[in-house]
Amino acid sequence: ATPLIIDTDPGVDDAFAIALAASSPEVELKGLTTVFGNVGLDLTTANALRLLAHLGRTDVPVVKGSPGEGGAADVHGQDGLGGQALSLPENPQPVHGDDPVQFFADTITPDTVVAAIGPLTNIARAVEAGIEFPRLIVMGGGLGVGNTTLRAEFNFWADPKAAQTVIRKANPIVVPLNLTQKCIADTEFLANVDPVLSNLTGTYRAYLAAHKDQNQSRHEEGILVHDAVAVAEAIVPGTLRLRTHGLDVDDEGALVEGKHQVEVAEETDWPALRSFMEQRLSG
Ligand code: BDR
Ligand code: CA
Repeated sequence: ATPLIIDTDPGVDDAFAIALAASSPEVELKGLTTVFGNVGLDLTTANALRLLAHLGRTDVPVVKGSPGEGGAADVHGQDGLGGQALSLPENPQPVHGDDPVQFFADTITPDTVVAAIGPLTNIARAVEAGIEFPRLIVMGGGLGVGNTTLRAEFNFWADPKAAQTVIRKANPIVVPLNLTQKCIADTEFLANVDPVLSNLTGTYRAYLAAHKDQNQSRHEEGILVHDAVAVAEAIVPGTLRLRTHGLDVDDEGALVEGKHQVEVAEETDWPALRSFMEQRLSG
């Protein structure tokens, strides 16, 4: 199985992504490194631990990473998991230290995939420290679209400098909003997956319903599983159609045309990916 590390800020769609990895024999989950993002670092770290306990994977280390101010409680709930974090079991394991850079240095082998599904603060710190990522899949950015400002996607907006570092130096595969916003996990999907996961989506669905106009009503019936789409490419390479683009990130976190050649996920067969996820997440 392919060794996989997930750098994450759980987060409802992060929870779906982690569960997808945990239930996929193609990958071996080597650890979660946490970062602030949807909510603050203490909560994202606590959520990572509890999610692993729910998944029966208390063997997977959780490394507490970079702090910062949480920015998406309106979508993910004050606790980051739709108000349901405390309904997940406690994880008896303590965190595995607070140095993600050292963890990457100790854990990454030439076949390790790292999926970064939160702000890129930990990853950029590692890049600056000289860590090489053999295969780095990043959920983030939007070309001409945003979900936090008109032009910026949340993960890039939350730490634009880090996003610049990663785009310019780490040769990532970028899974942008342009693709993930087409991947709607509708109510039928949510009814077919692990009810504990579906139960996390209440705040997210309420948010989308309240912002119906901006969202052109499209998401009203479900949620967007951005992070799970990125992790699917780690599990089954080729799930997403990649094309090389010259890109950069501006100071506001918008993904723009530029001189750094990176691979961008442009398309996927969503009905096929949707059923793949549904099967794997059905528990
Ligand atoms: C990204 O932002 C977060 O809110 C989600 O978890 C995802 O990683 C989507 O823009
Ligand atoms: Ca995330």
